[in-house]
Amino acid sequence: MTRNLSLVIQILLLVFASQCSAKVAATLDDVTGTENLLKVTVPTVNEQFLRPAGAPRRLGIGTLPDIGSTVNDIRANIVLNENGGSVFDVTKHGAKADGETDDAQAFMTTWIAACRNTVGPAKFLIPQGTYLVGPVTFAGPCKSFPITLENQGTVKATTDISEYSSPEWFSIEDITGFILTGSGVFDGQGVTVWPYNDCKKNRFCQLLPISIKFSRLNHTIVDGLTSVNSMGFHTSVFYCYNFTATNMKIIAPHNSPNTDGMHLSTSKLVTITNSVIGTGDDCVSIGHSTENIVVTNVTCGPGHGLSVGSLGKYSKEKSVYNVLVKNCTIFNATNGARIKTWASRISGLASGIIFEDIVMYNVKNPIIIDQTYGTKKKKVSNWKISDVHFKNIRGTSTTNVAVLLECSELLPCEGVELRDINLTYGGTNLRNTTIVSSCSNAKIATFGVQNPPPCVV
Ligand SMILES: *[C@@H]1O[C@H](CO)[C@@H](O)[C@H](O)[C@H]1NC(C)=O
Ligand SMILES: *[C@@H]1O[C@H](CO)[C@@H](O)[C@H](O)[C@H]1NC(C)=O
Ligand SMILES: *[C@@H]1O[C@H](CO)[C@@H](O)[C@H](O)[C@H]1NC(C)=O
Ligand SMILES: *[C@@H]1O[C@H](CO)[C@@H](O)[C@H](O)[C@H]1NC(C)=O
Ligand SMILES: *[C@@H]1O[C@H](CO)[C@@H](O)[C@H](O)[C@H]1NC(C)=O
Ligand SMILES: *[C@@H]1O[C@H](CO)[C@@H](O)[C@H](O)[C@H]1NC(C)=O
Ligand SMILES: *[C@@H]1O[C@H](CO)[C@@H](O)[C@H](O)[C@H]1NC(C)=O
Repeated sequence: MTRNLSLVIQILLLVFASQCSAKVAATLDDVTGTENLLKVTVPTVNEQFLRPAGAPRRLGIGTLPDIGSTVNDIRANIVLNENGGSVFDVTKHGAKADGETDDAQAFMTTWIAACRNTVGPAKFLIPQGTYLVGPVTFAGPCKSFPITLENQGTVKATTDISEYSSPEWFSIEDITGFILTGSGVFDGQGVTVWPYNDCKKNRFCQLLPISIKFSRLNHTIVDGLTSVNSMGFHTSVFYCYNFTATNMKIIAPHNSPNTDGMHLSTSKLVTITNSVIGTGDDCVSIGHSTENIVVTNVTCGPGHGLSVGSLGKYSKEKSVYNVLVKNCTIFNATNGARIKTWASRISGLASGIIFEDIVMYNVKNPIIIDQTYGTKKKKVSNWKISDVHFKNIRGTSTTNVAVLLECSELLPCEGVELRDINLTYGGTNLRNTTIVSSCSNAKIATFGVQNPPPCVV
């Protein structure tokens, strides 16, 4: 019975998809009316395609609850913190700062003092100096509020992987009102362990330690973070509510493996801004179960670009809603503005996604939706993608296919808007500098300038 029902639904979806791929009457209806300066208009617009899609069955919805606005203003407390809040200096709690002795224990002792033994604002201070530090956990809940971690030193990770019982170097957990700041450096010393990464060959590979993992935090400010050569991801934001990160420098060589700059999952209200990220992998990856994510003024490259996904790898993954990526520059990257889902049975929705005002230099796939991620076999993705906007995207593509929209055969992408796309060929094959769009199962509406010419729907 259920099987028959789902078969009927699949057939209906396929019928619907095939109808929509027929060419439709073109009506140019610029909703905003402000784009008149752009005369080179390709009139293949159909408003109906801009409506958000119907939700697929078995849609996972909802991520974190709103926690209300009753928190004290953390910024006001930063000022307080600088004028007389309690300071807990790691060197006064046993840290050697000789670059050789493992200071992990001293760091944790200092943390407990800062978090548990004081009320009001507290600061965990790493003064100038070089510290060798093994895996540490800074857990709340804290009596102090807010609690600041200020790094003015060079903190280096121990590189014996067997010490990392859990794949994180700094694990920051269960805190309301956490602030990370300071002009010091977190150096994951990944160079020696990257050769052990086998994720190219092994889909379920063991990930190397994340330099800083933020878990279950409410109201966090990261203002100034320098992270270099993480073993695995540089940072991960997991189960966080209201997380703002600004002034970050996140750096690793272009060929370092799985060193994503900032990976988000199961989080709500995350803003990443005014940062430089170049790690050889995704600069920011917006993973599953996320909502209200803003990425602005990020310079990204070299690496894999700014991605939503990959989605649909594990069964507990839920949907992604409301992502804005704006005012960013992406260079020397395999992908620019990307949405990727695994071709798997796991279902969910990625909806309300805007990539706007993005400049690309030397990008292999400047605009890409890839729903065949992680497979070479003929499998389809059950993850629905809808209400996606690529607006004012310009620069160079190093391949001839500058716009690649490969959507699910089962659940075609809907409401994909391409507006003012001006890409040119910037690759090395000077015999063919023509750029094209390639699409499958995507319902697209176009407005304004279109270089390359859009797919005909
Ligand atoms: C964060 O907020 C949620 C929702 O109110 C609450 O359940 C959780 O305990 C809070 N976490 C911390 C670390 O305060
Ligand atoms: C988010 O956190 C900031 C402090 O960084 C606070 O001022 C603001 O009120 C919080 N927003 C919400 C919606 O809770
Ligand atoms: C963008 O971020 C950079 C730091 O990466 C900063 O210097 C610059 O002022 C920011 N621009 C704006 C408009 O905020
Ligand atoms: C984008 O950049 C422009 C110019 O630098 C600036 O005026 C605008 O405020 C920025 N917008 C966002 C959302 O960062
Ligand atoms: C970007 O790529 C170009 C050409 O491949 C190279 O010359 C340049 O050094 C790269 N820039 C960075 C910052 O990696
Ligand atoms: C140039 O490349 C595009 C995209 O791959 C292809 O469609 C076109 O046929 C090529 N043109 C020539 C003359 O080879
Ligand atoms: C598109 O970009 C090219 C190269 O940067 C530029 O010459 C051209 O004027 C742009 N076209 C429009 C309509 O903005």
